Amino acid sequence: MELIVVRPEEFAQAAVDAFGHALVRAERPCLALPTGSTPVPFYRRLAETRFAFPPGTRAFALDEFVAPDAEAPGSNAAFFRRHWPPDFPPVAMPRADAADPEAEIAAYCAAVAACGPLDIAVLGIGVNGHIAFNEPGSGLADGCRVVRLAERTREAAAREWPEGVPEYGLTMGIAEIMAARRVMLLATGPAKRHVVHAALTGPVMGEIPASFLQRHPALTVVCDTAAGALLTQES
Ligand code: GLP
Repeated sequence: MELIVVRPEEFAQAAVDAFGHALVRAERPCLALPTGSTPVPFYRRLAETRFAFPPGTRAFALDEFVAPDAEAPGSNAAFFRRHWPPDFPPVAMPRADAADPEAEIAAYCAAVAACGPLDIAVLGIGVNGHIAFNEPGSGLADGCRVVRLAERTREAAAREWPEGVPEYGLTMGIAEIMAARRVMLLATGPAKRHVVHAALTGPVMGEIPASFLQRHPALTVVCDTAAGALLTQES
């Protein structure tokens, strides 16, 4: 594991540097990208520095809510419209309002699989240790699927869903994430310090899905000093 712990003001650039490094020799790379507050400064910095994606880059969102309005402000579709520059490679994602969510995520993941194993999966981490929408209780072999969202995940999203947070999500699985050539885990802020520590140094178990990343052969963790506080105390 490569661990990069930087001051909060250096986080976005450190993430851009690690991302750029991972893509140096990639040809027509396939990327998986997270939503949430954590990647926002990273995406902003990619835009500010006019990050040059390799030609033919294809990008996929890690997950989406299941919701009647595909354009709802809390949806991941709306997130990428707000935070992903229009001149960057477009980000594909499953439709939140699909009539048949199971079929939707199956078709979406067939497209991800056709792209090839992901060259890089960029991840955030939930306060309960989830990655994408792989909630506690997920297994290493779990692939793309419809999931019931954990209460803590729904509480964390409440602000963006004033009329009620969806109960279900569509997600890439632990299996697709673990098959990525490189995983880049992003974490910021003091609220993440316990879960980051548990995920990266504690037992590998489905109750903390991010702990499976300990088994990934090419994991880069980029965090700020607040999120990484308990990791650096030990070194
Ligand atoms: C959401 C997303 C995850 C994200 C997580 C953390 O539930 N599905 O992909 O990593 O929340 O979000 P934040 O960065 O806002 O803490």
